[in-house]
Amino acid sequence: MDKEYKPVHGIWTSRWIFILAATGSAVGLGNIWKFPYMTGTYGGGAFVVVYLLCIAIVGIPIMMAEVMIGRRGGLSPIHTMRKLAREAGVSRHWALLGFMGALAGFLILSFYSVVAGWALYYVQEAATGGFTGKSADDIGSIFSGLLQSPWLLLGCHTLFMLLTMLVVAHGVERGLERAVRFLMPSLFVLVLVLLGYSLSSGAFMDGVRFMFHVDFSALTRDALLVALGHAFFTLSLGMGAIMAYGAYMPKEVTDPATGNRKSVSIGSTVLMIAVLDTVIAILMGLVIFPLVFGNGLDPSSGPGLMFVTLPIAFGQMPMGVLFGTLFFVLVVFAALSSSISLGEPVAAWMVENGWSRAKAAVLIGSGAWVLGLATLLSFNLWSEVTFLRGTFFDNIDFLTTSIFLPLGGFLIAVFAGWIMKETQVRKELAMQNFKLYMVWRAVVRIFAPLAVLTIFVHTIHQAFTG
Ligand code: PHE
Repeated sequence: MDKEYKPVHGIWTSRWIFILAATGSAVGLGNIWKFPYMTGTYGGGAFVVVYLLCIAIVGIPIMMAEVMIGRRGGLSPIHTMRKLAREAGVSRHWALLGFMGALAGFLILSFYSVVAGWALYYVQEAATGGFTGKSADDIGSIFSGLLQSPWLLLGCHTLFMLLTMLVVAHGVERGLERAVRFLMPSLFVLVLVLLGYSLSSGAFMDGVRFMFHVDFSALTRDALLVALGHAFFTLSLGMGAIMAYGAYMPKEVTDPATGNRKSVSIGSTVLMIAVLDTVIAILMGLVIFPLVFGNGLDPSSGPGLMFVTLPIAFGQMPMGVLFGTLFFVLVVFAALSSSISLGEPVAAWMVENGWSRAKAAVLIGSGAWVLGLATLLSFNLWSEVTFLRGTFFDNIDFLTTSIFLPLGGFLIAVFAGWIMKETQVRKELAMQNFKLYMVWRAVVRIFAPLAVLTIFVHTIHQAFTG
């Protein structure tokens, strides 16, 4: 008989806070840094279309499933899976899904912190006027200079990881809630300011054309799998982060209008988060690509894209020092509200096993910090050490984003669609509209798993046939 685990966490004070926290988790480097450079590398408009389809058809329904499972279980993903598997009378090995997610989160955290460290460095550059009046070339050398300085990178990586540990150690209400309350709205405003600049920059339409001109022959190798993986990555899906947050979601809230208790619908909540997340990613593309074309840069230049384009704008726009500093500060916070959710599944599990939150945070953070060193070195001393998909960073990114997350999402869909009792699923989802519920169910049972499988098989086939 399994030990009964009791929830040892707080509950978000309202549905609104759940939305903020889950949006905080979803909106991060994935939208600001990763989406633009992947669009640039994997096929422009065609990539954007595949990505949007993956969000709509696979991402949103699976996100609903993940929140639903989390809220029903009420525990860390590992214990939630074990509990719900027992409830459904199936093998407790379903807990492995929780372990796999926890591992994926840990691995992602290791490289996430390195890149967030770059943004930290850029706060200081922006604040000291380091971009003012610089040419695109000069800005490019600031970035390559940073990458060539392992010690500097180490300092930034360390600082960011310490921040992450600090927030995770403080737990749900005091740590996570506070961190996300003001940051998301401010980030949104700053992105709009940048959009204003890029609208007036002269090459706006070139950027729009690049992002929305759909030519499927432009899709590069593996683009389908990469787009699918990114849909999971950007929604924080398939590794338990959203499941862990779902466990902190209230089942009922008081309706301020009537004073009655009403159940919190998962569908509309998830939709809102996914739309916000997607809008920010698309806006970032619309900010970055006009700058790329206006300055003769290469859209497929890879992970540095944001760091060599945005500073050009800050260097030229009025009050660029202020906006630039603010922007990178917000990027750091957006990254932080995501990185804490990467550690949350493991942290919650350790706390349920009797650890203190602080100890759990330190252990996870230092482990991910050590592993992060391999990513850090991928951009300098080890940049020539390549295997399978490229550097260590390329491999850990592909393994987690394109393999672990879609696989996790696939299993979550199967569990919600085929394993759990339908009555429980329906009750937990609290969807008012029966037809919509039936659509969701069909997607989660058949369509989403099939889509993930098809893309996997297609990519493996492509790998063997070249
Ligand atoms: N969604 C985050 C981003 O886009 C990254 C993330 C992935 C966070 C998985 C948690 C879990 O930056």
